[in-house]
Amino acid sequence: MVNRFLAACRKQKVDRPPVWIMRQAGRYLPEYRALREKAGSFLTLCTNPELAAEATLQPLRRFPLDAAIIFSDILLPLQALGVSFQFPDNGGPRLAQAFAGPEDWAELQAPASWESMEPVAQALRIVRQALPPEVALIGFCGAPWTLACYLLEARGSSDWTKARIAAHRWPSQLQKLLSTLAHAMGEYVAFQVAAGAQAVQVFDSWAGVLPPEQYQELVVPALERLFRSLEGLGVPRILYLGHGSHLLRTVAALPLEVVSVDWRTDLRKAARLTGKVVQGNLDPAVLFASETEVKRHTKAMLQRAPEVGYIANLGHGIWPDTPIAGVEAFLTAIQENP
Ligand code: CP3
Repeated sequence: MVNRFLAACRKQKVDRPPVWIMRQAGRYLPEYRALREKAGSFLTLCTNPELAAEATLQPLRRFPLDAAIIFSDILLPLQALGVSFQFPDNGGPRLAQAFAGPEDWAELQAPASWESMEPVAQALRIVRQALPPEVALIGFCGAPWTLACYLLEARGSSDWTKARIAAHRWPSQLQKLLSTLAHAMGEYVAFQVAAGAQAVQVFDSWAGVLPPEQYQELVVPALERLFRSLEGLGVPRILYLGHGSHLLRTVAALPLEVVSVDWRTDLRKAARLTGKVVQGNLDPAVLFASETEVKRHTKAMLQRAPEVGYIANLGHGIWPDTPIAGVEAFLTAIQENP
């Protein structure tokens, strides 16, 4: 059987678009909530290989998905760089301490070994064993800019003022921080590929807070370093460009195969401007509509998608209280295609 996801990443023709769901393992699934309770904390779930593998596989048992994404978090590997943080039960990640200025990251460097992330490698091996060959396994990391946003802000934000100010106050030092993160994350995803990941997705969730010129000058060199380092691995490289409709031209020259776009980006335009395979981009809010409406919106999305080189997905992560019926209607509409 063909692996639809990997074929589409290579711009090969497939019988229908492959599909997976951004943040497909998570709180909208009752079985995830039960597992999370059993684990006691989100970090335990991430660092126990059996539990992380189980969380990864849960959505695959329920839905006909073409890919699994390893259950973890973009902040997890920062522990190997000496950064500590917590995931309180509500409200997103919290760093023990924000990076207040360049002196706070002057000493930051990629770890000598990724041994401390062995639980992630172990979870990847368990999942790969459990999956049929037609289902792809995706590894991931945070993009340098998005990770820097959390390091500078110490928590989530909607406009990332501290990070944007830092980018103007200390441009060369920030560039150095992004370069260090790029180097570290390149090694970290290569470590995931060695353990069985067949594609890698780099999440630049907060790309869109920067204008194109600044994204080009400050961020693109770091992304170039990261993606270039993965060249020899032979796995598809995916960049998620959150809120990034204005950055499509800017990422066109990067050495990667797939651009994942949010719900405000036109899929055809994304394919045309980047020349890459495109992934996305249903608004996660659509899944709360009636089944008929979910199907109508999904089919409209497929109409707007390029015929080859397209992977169906949401435009951002699925929300915790999403109705399962909405997810099912979304997947059915894709299976019914064409
Ligand atoms: O199936 C999957 O995709 C799960 C694996 C996964 C998680 N986080 C688990 C998680 C992935 C791929 C991520 C990526 C991630 N984490 C991103 C990039 C994608 C995006 O959404 O933009 C970002 C920015 C983060 C940082 C992060 N982690 C935030 C902002 C939050 C809180 C918001 C939220 O969704 O709760 C987390 C916590 C988190 N990461 C949870 C899960 C399942 C919830 C924790 C819990 O179960 O208590």
